[in-house]
Amino acid sequence: MLEPIATAPVDPAAIPQRTLYTGAIMPAIGLGTFGSDHVTAAEIAEVVKGAAAAGYRHFDCASVYGNEAEIGNAFEKILRGGIRREDLWITSKLWNDKHDEDDVIASCRQTLTNLRLDYLDLYLVHWPFPNFHPPGCDVTSRSPNAKPYIHENYMKTWRKMEELVDMGLVRHIGTSNMTIPKLKLVLRDARIKPAVNEMELHPHFQQPELFRFVLDNGIQPVGYCPIGSPGRPERDRTPDDTAPTDDPVIARIAERHGIPPAVVCIKWAVQRGQTPIPFSVHHYRANLEGIVGDPLTDEEMRSIAAIDRNCRLIKGQVFLWKEGQTWEDLWDVNGEITPL
Ligand SMILES: NC(=O)c1ccc[n+]([C@@H]2O[C@H](COP(=O)([O-])OP(=O)(O)OC[C@H]3O[C@@H](n4cnc5c(N)ncnc54)[C@H](OP(=O)(O)O)[C@@H]3O)[C@@H](O)[C@H]2O)c1
Repeated sequence: MLEPIATAPVDPAAIPQRTLYTGAIMPAIGLGTFGSDHVTAAEIAEVVKGAAAAGYRHFDCASVYGNEAEIGNAFEKILRGGIRREDLWITSKLWNDKHDEDDVIASCRQTLTNLRLDYLDLYLVHWPFPNFHPPGCDVTSRSPNAKPYIHENYMKTWRKMEELVDMGLVRHIGTSNMTIPKLKLVLRDARIKPAVNEMELHPHFQQPELFRFVLDNGIQPVGYCPIGSPGRPERDRTPDDTAPTDDPVIARIAERHGIPPAVVCIKWAVQRGQTPIPFSVHHYRANLEGIVGDPLTDEEMRSIAAIDRNCRLIKGQVFLWKEGQTWEDLWDVNGEITPL
C-alpha cells in the first residue's frame, strides 16, 4: 500500500518561482541528484521521495548520474501518492557521448523510459564538448577522440534538441557549462532558444558577467554546487579551492539568522535570482525551509556579493582536447572561444 504524500511541511505554493520566456513556471529551488560517486542510486531515490514529501517539486537529473531508473521508480510512487505531474519540474541532460544527430532522440527516450515519464520539463546539453570519458575517471583521463567546441556540430545536436520540443517529449531545452561567446552563437542560430543555462554558482563563484548575460537574454540561470559541493569527488578538488561555507562573512550571517552556513548560500542564491539545485541526503529539508524563512537583508546580500573569489570548483579538465592546455581553455576566459 502506498503512503499518500499529503501535506508537505513546506507548502510548495510558498516556494519562489521563476517564469521562463515561454511563460512556464519553474520552482526556484530544485534537488540535485548527482551522488558524487559515493551516494548510491537507491539512497538518492529515497531522498527524492523524502524531498517530494518535504515540499520539493523540482528535480535535477542526468543520464550520466547513473541513477535515473531508481529515481524513476521514486517518481512513479510520488505521482501515485497524489502529486500531479504538472506540479513537478523535472530536468535531465544529454551526456557528452550522445551528441551525434542519431543519438539525441534515442538518448532522451531512454531517459524518459528510465524516469517513467511521458515528457521532461527541461532537457539540457550537459557540456558543450562531445567527449566521452568513463564515469568516475581520474582528473588526468583524456579521451583520444577529444574535440573542442565546434559550433557547427553543437548546432546539429541543438537541431535535434529542438525536434524533441516539436515532438512533445520535452517542454524546454537548455544549455549547461556554457560561456558568453558560445551562447552568443547559439542565440544567433537557434530556432528554439535555450530557456535555461545551468552553471556553477555559489558565493565564491558568482560569475557576474555570465549571470547578467543570461538574464538579459531571457534565459534563467540554474546554479549547481550552490553550497560549494563539499562532497565532490576527489578529481574535482585542487589545493586552491575555497569553501563558501567556511567564509567568515557567511558564518556571521548564519549566526545572526540562527541557520547553517549552507542555508545562507541557498537563501542568497534564491534572492539573487538564480535557481539553486543543492544535493543533500541529510539536510534537504533545512535547505527548503531556509528559502521560505526570513530573508537576508540588502546589506547582507551586498556583503555576500563582495566575497566572490572567482573560484571555479568544477573545472572540467577531462574535456581538454590537446596537450599543453589548462582548464581555463575550456571556459573562454579571454572572451573568445578558445581556438582549435
Ligand atoms: N550541469 C552540470 O554540469 C552539473 C555539475 C555539477 C552538479 N550539478 C547538479 O548540481 C547538484 C548540486 O551540486 P553538488 O551536489 O555538486 O554540490 P552542492 O549541492 O553544493 O553540495 C552538496 C553537498 O552539500 C552538503 N549539504 C547540503 N545541504 C547542507 C546543509 N544545509 N548543511 C551542511 N551540508 C549540506 C551535502 O551533504 P549531505 O548529503 O550530507 O546533506 C552534500 O555533500 C548536483 O547534485 C547535480 O544535480 C550539475
